[in-house]
Amino acid sequence: MDKILLKGGSVVSARGVRKADVLISGEKIVAVGRRLTADAQVVDVSGKLIFPGFIDAHTHFDLEVSDTVTADDFESGSQSAVAGGVTTVVDFATQNKGETLSEALNNWHMKAFGKSSCDYAFHMAISDWREDIKNELPAMFEQGVTSFKVYMIYDAMELSDREIYELMTELRKYGGIVGCHCENSGIIGKLREEALESGEADPKYHPLTRPAYTEAEAVNRFLTIAKAADAPCIVVHLSTRGGYEEILRARDEGVQVYLETCPQYLLLDDRVYDSPFDVASKYICSPPLRKQEDKKALWDALKTNNADTVSTDHCSFTMAQKRAGEGDFTKIPNGMPGVETRAILLYSYGVKKHRISIAQMCAYLSENPARLYGMYPRKGVIKAGADADIVIFEPKGHGKITAGSCHSKCGYTPFEGVKTVGSVEQVYLRGNLVYSDGEIVLKNSGTYITRDHYDL
Ligand code: URP
Ligand code: ZN
Ligand code: ZN
Repeated sequence: MDKILLKGGSVVSARGVRKADVLISGEKIVAVGRRLTADAQVVDVSGKLIFPGFIDAHTHFDLEVSDTVTADDFESGSQSAVAGGVTTVVDFATQNKGETLSEALNNWHMKAFGKSSCDYAFHMAISDWREDIKNELPAMFEQGVTSFKVYMIYDAMELSDREIYELMTELRKYGGIVGCHCENSGIIGKLREEALESGEADPKYHPLTRPAYTEAEAVNRFLTIAKAADAPCIVVHLSTRGGYEEILRARDEGVQVYLETCPQYLLLDDRVYDSPFDVASKYICSPPLRKQEDKKALWDALKTNNADTVSTDHCSFTMAQKRAGEGDFTKIPNGMPGVETRAILLYSYGVKKHRISIAQMCAYLSENPARLYGMYPRKGVIKAGADADIVIFEPKGHGKITAGSCHSKCGYTPFEGVKTVGSVEQVYLRGNLVYSDGEIVLKNSGTYITRDHYDL
């Protein structure tokens, strides 16, 4: 019998919650409705919420950066994902300077193949824009890569405004979309240099040398480029009120811009940087954590449906790796883990605090990323014909986030000790139970997902 009948639960969609049973046959959902019967293994999910598998559209697994490599590869990263109810990640295949896009894509296939416990797809991060790269774009679409990332900062990655404009104009032809890391590299570069020259080398100078206006300016510039190119675009990991206001303004002017933010920008703030090195360095990410007023603006964006996705920017480093920046904050590798804690945090501090509804949680974690990244309706929804990627969520009960209960190899969580409500109890990936009651029960069964054009 390869049929499973989930009975008595409440199915969540971006439109609301309704009581319904879910029948799974093989890898697919085949029926959703009241009082279903079938010759199937019946699983009682009374009292539980049934979410479509969560999608994290912003992870960096096995990324070589800052003379090191992220603590999580596809093996540990995807196990951490599944434990947080994430059934699909969209990771950033990243082109090193001098490489072709095909080389970068093959690299990422080799990193992920046979190792991933959740399904995976790739964006392509372009760091070297050349004529031959332009000619490679159609091949990316043929291989299911329909979204791209550019960086306005980082020496190894940065593209000029002209290059971003050229790329966007080119991608418009194929229905592609570009996400941008928006920070002003000129100002930040100079501020960092000046800080070090003055002996200001502690982690607390990381946010001070990346003021909020440097994000807002870069968002404005990126959206101006998008307007000129008449191309849709995404501002990734938005962290500031100023950046949000730029997005609202650009939308009023007709720019088709999507907004991604992350739990760390919704829930943490820059006071953590006043701690000793071993604490503060865990929170070094770019853009940095901001202020209360920025968090408020981002929650407002979620509440009013002006945001589109909540991803994590999972980019994990151990304490030993972070210590490379003792005595020079510019050498601390940037990033933090998050793929495992996103859903529980959004439920505990979004839904339970009445900042967003359960339907909005589903939109931000499942349906919108599926649509924006060309995977809908295969992913992101519980309906007949969709992949049976399902999270059985217990809405009651209290818990606490601890590194000991997380699966990331970095050894800590930025949310240590944070109180939570509810829990991810079981996770099905294409009909297979992969996670149950705290244990990964099926490993390495993730597969590559080719993606279509955005549709949100
Ligand atoms: O600090 C961060 N966010 N590191 C990951 C790379 C990026 O910029 O997304
Ligand atoms: Zn980024
Ligand atoms: Zn990132």
